[in-house]
Amino acid sequence: PTVNFIDAHGATRTVDAPAGSTVMEIAVKHDVPGVVGECGGACACATCHVYVDDAWVEAVGAPADMEKDMLDFAFDVREHSRLSCQIIVRPELDGLIVHTPVRQG
Ligand code: FES
Repeated sequence: PTVNFIDAHGATRTVDAPAGSTVMEIAVKHDVPGVVGECGGACACATCHVYVDDAWVEAVGAPADMEKDMLDFAFDVREHSRLSCQIIVRPELDGLIVHTPVRQG
């Protein structure tokens, strides 16, 4: 699968995303600006905050309670905010679009 990251200025980056990896891991591996992933994916830092594109919200699914609690620490949280370390790539998410925030924290 591939994942598209759209930054706060509207620039898109499309990267290969092996199934089973998290969106945060892919972003960090490809140096996608705006995603930090400080805690390494433990749902404990909120620096992997992204906005799931409207068209993909249903396919991605809802965050777990632990993620919702941690999202409170993210900057500029919106309706479709997610922690990207909690989104696992699967074949159905091929072409996923996430928007990266202007900054983390
Ligand atoms: Fe820390 Fe996602 S990488 S919460």
